[in-house]
Amino acid sequence: MRRKIVAGNWKMNLNYEEGLSVFSETVNMVQDEINQDVLTIVAAPYIHLSALVKLAERRVQIAAQNCHQQDAGAFTGEISATQLQSIGVSHVIIGHSERRQYFGESDELIAKKVDAALRNSLIPIVCIGELLEERNAGNYFSVIENQLTKATFHLPENQFKNLIIAYEPVWAIGTGLTATPEQAQEIHQFIRTKIAGKYGSAIAENTSILYGGSCNAQNAKALFAMPDIDGGLIGGASLKSRDFLTIIQSF
Ligand code: PGA
Repeated sequence: MRRKIVAGNWKMNLNYEEGLSVFSETVNMVQDEINQDVLTIVAAPYIHLSALVKLAERRVQIAAQNCHQQDAGAFTGEISATQLQSIGVSHVIIGHSERRQYFGESDELIAKKVDAALRNSLIPIVCIGELLEERNAGNYFSVIENQLTKATFHLPENQFKNLIIAYEPVWAIGTGLTATPEQAQEIHQFIRTKIAGKYGSAIAENTSILYGGSCNAQNAKALFAMPDIDGGLIGGASLKSRDFLTIIQSF
């Protein structure tokens, strides 16, 4: 069966010392308080990664928030999946809406980054989600299908099955406007149906699909109770270890 996963996305927050203390608290709390089989992932800025992988354990793993699509070369300021793999990072967020919006990442580029991650044995957490205008215009299903198809459906079955998908409606990210559990479930079920159509129901049933967008300690339980929501991608609430732990406990 698919895994329950809670991934924290620190974005460009926390200095080195702050990151170490939030992460250490998170690991300690998971060890002391979580009995369920939940995978916790922390997606930290690059400066933290090599320190955090040393503190990571089987149930608390480390992700990068982005990677370059090439493995090496003259790309000043960029970091490759090969480099991330070399320090023990296990996961990488690809195609976050902030990368799409502020750094012009297209579905085609995102597909290349997914390939780079898989080529280097990293597990991609692929983000898709519609803008507010797209939700209001009512064409969000086609937006989601298009993003999913272009970013991931080029993969053969034996690679696709390694992915984690995150549905993050852009209008809900950092706004305090969470999708209702029903709105999120509708899309998660749609995504799973599309995966089943392409790769078969066994792979679809085993793919973890996370919800992201103002998910917090108060609303996580209702979201995670939905049949196709397998956990969350948590921004703001992952910066406070107690709130993050409450979310990890929300299954
Ligand atoms: P948020 O961010 O929880 O702060 O809304 C989620 C995300 O962008 O991954």
